[in-house]
Amino acid sequence: MEAALPNFFFHDLHPAPEDFHAEVIAGLRGENKRLPPKLFYDEQGSQLFDAITRLPEYYPTRTEIGLLQRHGPDMAGLVGDDGLLLELGSGSNIKIRILLEALRLQAYAPIDISREFLRLSAGAIAQDHPALQVHAICTDYSKPIELPRCFDTERRTVFFPGSSIGNFEPEQARELMQRVAALLGPDGRLLIGVDLKKDPERLHAAYNDSQGITACFNLNLLTRLNRELDADFDVSAFRHHAFYNEPLGRVEMHLIATIRQRVRVDGCCFEFQTGESIHTENSYKYSVDEFQALAAQAGLIGEAVWQDDDALFSIHCLKAA
Ligand SMILES: C[S@@+](CC[C@H](N)C(=O)[O-])C[C@H]1O[C@@H](n2cnc3c(N)ncnc32)[C@H](O)[C@@H]1O
Repeated sequence: MEAALPNFFFHDLHPAPEDFHAEVIAGLRGENKRLPPKLFYDEQGSQLFDAITRLPEYYPTRTEIGLLQRHGPDMAGLVGDDGLLLELGSGSNIKIRILLEALRLQAYAPIDISREFLRLSAGAIAQDHPALQVHAICTDYSKPIELPRCFDTERRTVFFPGSSIGNFEPEQARELMQRVAALLGPDGRLLIGVDLKKDPERLHAAYNDSQGITACFNLNLLTRLNRELDADFDVSAFRHHAFYNEPLGRVEMHLIATIRQRVRVDGCCFEFQTGESIHTENSYKYSVDEFQALAAQAGLIGEAVWQDDDALFSIHCLKAA
């Protein structure tokens, strides 16, 4: 733990390099090759995601921001004052800045796996809010989260924006929300952003932008493996592929091999046939009722839900049942 400003603390619990190696090798060894989306987020990946959020086709970020601007005071009323707010996958922190206008907090704990990006974004929040204790935690939130001791407060809120819950299989999403329910305690609240089911064409455009930024974001994963795992992917021999899988209610992102090839990763060899895919991300979309039913299985009940006039995006306020 280190302090950069008197109110800024950085807790580095980043997964060990061996875990990174093990997840990649296991993912590429399977019959259907896959890599978990958390691996997108090295520093370059975080910057590319930020660029995605500003694209005209990418409606989720600006819609969720609109909901926070419009309903922030109502959200703050439910969450209550003077507690600790943990944010899962805090990224550039743009959304918490809006909530901080309506909320009075003692401490804010942004949690993210992208170490340097977290350090910079969370440090900027600490600088702009000198009365707020900012405890940035670099860790993998898909695993049980260990909170530093100083977080023994009565009231905890968890903020999980960006519909990142949709990156988990429904069963894993339920498990994650169960762990979050245990973090909240009896008086806490979970404020969670969830992308809604909608016209497949709109979804297709959001994940296949005309400037090709989403493609760069997807392909950057291979560049990262080349740099950090001594891999030799020819990035130009893969292409981005994203589509809405309607029966499963999810957008899928893949990297497709454009030629037959052999790739080495950390001393292990992998064969790719032409057209073979590495499945890199799912983004499940939920109706309000579907999501509330999933949350109920995790022991959380809905207290309020907000959605925009075009029914693109929702924010749920949940509490322990
Ligand atoms: C889709 S972005 C959303 C960013 C921001 N919350 C927003 O709403 O725009 C996902 C964020 O979560 C982080 N992230 C993804 N998987 C994670 C994991 N397993 N553990 C911790 N952080 C993760 C990424 O680094 C990134 O900042």
